[in-house]
Amino acid sequence: MILRLAAPLFACCLAIAALSPSARAEQAPASAQQAVGWKTGREATEIERRIDALLKRMTLEEKVGQLHLSGRGEGFDVNQVRAGRMGGVMNFVVPAEVLEVQKAVRESRLKIPLIIGLDAVHGFSTYFPLPLGQASSWNPALIEQAAYWTGREAAAAGINWTFAPMVDISRDPRWGRVLEGAGEDAFLGSVVAAARTGGYQRGGVAASVKHFVGYGAAEAGRDYNSTWIPTSQLFDLFLPPFKASFDAGSMTAMAAFNALNGVPTTAHRGMLTDLLRGKWGFKGFVTSDFGSITELRLHGIAKDDAEAARKALLAGIDMDMMGDVYHKHLAGEVKAGHVPVKALDEAVRRVLRVKFHLGLFDKPDVDPAAAPKLMQTEEARKVALQAAQEGAILLKNANETLPIRDTVKSVAVIGAMAVPEDERVWTDPAGLGRRVITPLPDALRERLPKDVAVTYEPAFKKNCGLEFADKEAAIRAAAASDLVVAMLGEDCEFMGEGASRTRLDLPGVQQELLEALVATGKPVVLVLATGRPLVLSWADAHVAAILQTFHGGTEGRTAIADILTGKVNPSGRVPMSFPRSVGQIPVYYDHLPTGRPQKIRQRYESIFMDEANEPLYAFGHGLSYTSFTYTNAQVSKPKVPLDGVVEVSVDVTNAGSRDGQEVVQLYIRQPVASRSRPMRELKGFDKVSLRAGETRAVRFRLEASRLGAHDEEGRYIVDPGEVEIYLGGSSQSSVSAKLLLVKS
Ligand code: NOJ
Repeated sequence: MILRLAAPLFACCLAIAALSPSARAEQAPASAQQAVGWKTGREATEIERRIDALLKRMTLEEKVGQLHLSGRGEGFDVNQVRAGRMGGVMNFVVPAEVLEVQKAVRESRLKIPLIIGLDAVHGFSTYFPLPLGQASSWNPALIEQAAYWTGREAAAAGINWTFAPMVDISRDPRWGRVLEGAGEDAFLGSVVAAARTGGYQRGGVAASVKHFVGYGAAEAGRDYNSTWIPTSQLFDLFLPPFKASFDAGSMTAMAAFNALNGVPTTAHRGMLTDLLRGKWGFKGFVTSDFGSITELRLHGIAKDDAEAARKALLAGIDMDMMGDVYHKHLAGEVKAGHVPVKALDEAVRRVLRVKFHLGLFDKPDVDPAAAPKLMQTEEARKVALQAAQEGAILLKNANETLPIRDTVKSVAVIGAMAVPEDERVWTDPAGLGRRVITPLPDALRERLPKDVAVTYEPAFKKNCGLEFADKEAAIRAAAASDLVVAMLGEDCEFMGEGASRTRLDLPGVQQELLEALVATGKPVVLVLATGRPLVLSWADAHVAAILQTFHGGTEGRTAIADILTGKVNPSGRVPMSFPRSVGQIPVYYDHLPTGRPQKIRQRYESIFMDEANEPLYAFGHGLSYTSFTYTNAQVSKPKVPLDGVVEVSVDVTNAGSRDGQEVVQLYIRQPVASRSRPMRELKGFDKVSLRAGETRAVRFRLEASRLGAHDEEGRYIVDPGEVEIYLGGSSQSSVSAKLLLVKS
């Protein structure tokens, strides 16, 4: 693969909100408040000098030790820390235990601090919506704050490294991990990647952007499966969010489990070294994924762990996560001359570099007494509430069923998920502090007038909805009410890592219940908490309203109640197309045209005989309790040189009677170019708050250099020619303006 010119990525400005004054004033342990990131100039030079000095003093075993990442639990040997044979630990969440390992470091010869990692994916003590739900807010400043508070709480517990953000683009909701990403689009994904990276590091933990690269393209959505990605697509779709994260300062990266075009990414020198270090100039370290070095044997490219260790190190994997492979075999490989000392030293240098830039050598130990004060602060919960409110997507609202009308005097809340049964949210091993989660019926009671009766029936034994507890009681409650709010979805075991599905319906007996509720004849509002877009075709045809959440976190149910009662006007937008049926997958908005487009739905067109082409809910879609109109779309000049810039503007009016937020989206299409180009490509968006009746001119700066695409040789090409511009509230908006790209 030839890697030449990379696209100038996302010159669009990210208006990331600065830390609010109230947050700044709040008292917190010094260690938790310190933002981390790359140091520059003299400080960086001095760090390299210190690394040189340290490397000279290290034995072979101590060097290998820096590349060994071990984890809390069975088999963890604190004596390896004392012996200088461990560089990092993971999954320590109790500050007193973190302190113990930090103390063990001081008993070691060189006292090199540990990097302490955790999957603080969408929260530590305060939980924010799952990342896909955060992306649904299309509000980068808010997403940055969610990551900031996650990082800050984790940092207060002594953690200094998070295995996040996951920036894998995916168009396949069968893959259980889509919940960890930002959905299907490179532009939205890149904006979110930058926001999350910046937020974590402002909060005090190094980011580890993952999984480098292509993991989200696992064939058939089966976790860990192979990926086959053409070079052009790799550069246009999968790599941009990583680049955005590195540009935002991500200090580390994690390789993926999968084989990319036949080469396991854990041993992919082309990606890890030539591209990442060579072309992109990344100075941090790369960790393997959990045990992925030893898995090189199973991929069939190493006969034993020694060969796996050698291949991974020489490809560019610096740290071995939980594999014990470097620990056991790397010194031997070096002694045998299979791995040059220089290669080992470079890997150690990168690990030490991150530790120095993080300030770990000068950082005081965690203070277990101070840590709890930093958990679930009012400020963090405020952000969690806003993130849950803005991340909820109103997919359907027939006859303005929502917000709940004054005529509704009784509401039946159905579904065990409405009342949290435990506080575990996928991917966070544990939290610190008590999570107080308000049940949905209580939150509704607090918000609805006193004369509205709110009843609650769980219907199922557990959240996952696999077995009924009392189905009949739920139906009776529904039949006796004016409005039914059914909170259903996927819970822990149905989503996340290793939770690929071939059917994307409601798990267990939930569909049966939903149909019974609809059969009562009462209007049913379906509130979903899932980890992915499900196939909602039946629900779309039968229920009155659908509010999609991707597990809203600590404030999830209060946010839902705010939206149902109209206290908050929904503003979430779809980050990943909702298929009409599994057979449509992959279904995404920026597909290429075909030579046989759908015109009249006849056989020899690119259609399905038994299904529409379009998704049920398109990328960018989301309803509001008000409506927005777009007028006066303009470009600042009709002809733009290939190195030029143009301003695009449009007047957006809140034409309804409620204040609301609109996500103004800008898409382009180049109808004739040197390669076939997508039907739409998102190139800008802006979330704006408009009072009822207000009109605002929304402006976008569009650099011509961002309007190109990569070819199969990895060259980035901007073609002269016409560019159509689409402005509106979803990927289905119609053309608004045109411009002509001309040779400079
Ligand atoms: C495996 C997952 O793929 C990765 O994302 C995660 O960070 C590690 N396990 C550690 O928990």
